[in-house]
Amino acid sequence: MKIGIIGAGNIGGNLTRRLAALGHEVSVANSRGPQTLTALAEETGAKPVTAAEAAKGAQVVVVTVPLKAVPDLPAGFLDGAAEGVAVIDTGNYYPQQRDGRIAAIEDGLPESRWTEQQIGHPVIKAFNGTYAQDILDRARPQGAADRLVLPVAGDDPAAKRTVRDLIDALGFDTVDSGGLDDSWRQQPGTPVYGNRGDADAVVKALAEASPERPAEFRA
Ligand SMILES: NC(=O)c1ccc[n+]([C@@H]2O[C@H](COP(=O)([O-])OP(=O)(O)OC[C@H]3O[C@@H](n4cnc5c(N)ncnc54)[C@H](OP(=O)(O)O)[C@@H]3O)[C@@H](O)[C@H]2O)c1
Repeated sequence: MKIGIIGAGNIGGNLTRRLAALGHEVSVANSRGPQTLTALAEETGAKPVTAAEAAKGAQVVVVTVPLKAVPDLPAGFLDGAAEGVAVIDTGNYYPQQRDGRIAAIEDGLPESRWTEQQIGHPVIKAFNGTYAQDILDRARPQGAADRLVLPVAGDDPAAKRTVRDLIDALGFDTVDSGGLDDSWRQQPGTPVYGNRGDADAVVKALAEASPERPAEFRA
């Protein structure tokens, strides 16, 4: 598949490594420009591009930049993507350490709904509670007892299927955690966030989430 990754940090870098190793045609972008991605490109075979180019022709686009940077993404960056493109949002709102105050999220809008409004395209929420290093180290074959289980939320069933299949190919199980209106259940501070339990534990953790945002994740 043609995959565009916007953000080449902890998560974007490791997804670039793993997805390129699986044989996907990966384009990767950061904020400073493709000339700063030479080492990652040489290591992985991914194509370094600008953020405006990353989604061109892509069937899957991963948005994996700090939440506060989402409004800075180039206008119309998804215009050249393949029809039906699945856009993965890995983002989390860290108002105190990184993102500053985002009023709509403080008022209760799920983080991924906010991101989808900023970029003007539906998103599938995945990887947001996954440790970046686990993307490299914890891939397992189907059926392995210690295979990690990732919650995946989103409203478009076809895009969600594409993303769940891709995550399976990366070596992780998934559970369908509902539509984006329910995606607060996997935001920072919830029981499932960073949870490395089995599918039953992940489903239980999603059910036990409280909609009240913990103080450390408020501005
Ligand atoms: N770290 C984790 O384990 C983890 C786990 C799950 C989810 N997340 C979430 O996933 C998101 C990314 O996290 P991360 O840890 O991978 O971040 P990170 O290591 O700080 O990397 C951020 C990347 O985004 C790029 N970027 C920033 N602004 C951009 C812009 N306007 N256009 C294009 N690229 C831009 C940066 O490029 P430059 O370096 O050139 O500025 C950098 O490559 C965050 O929302 C985070 O909360 C992180």
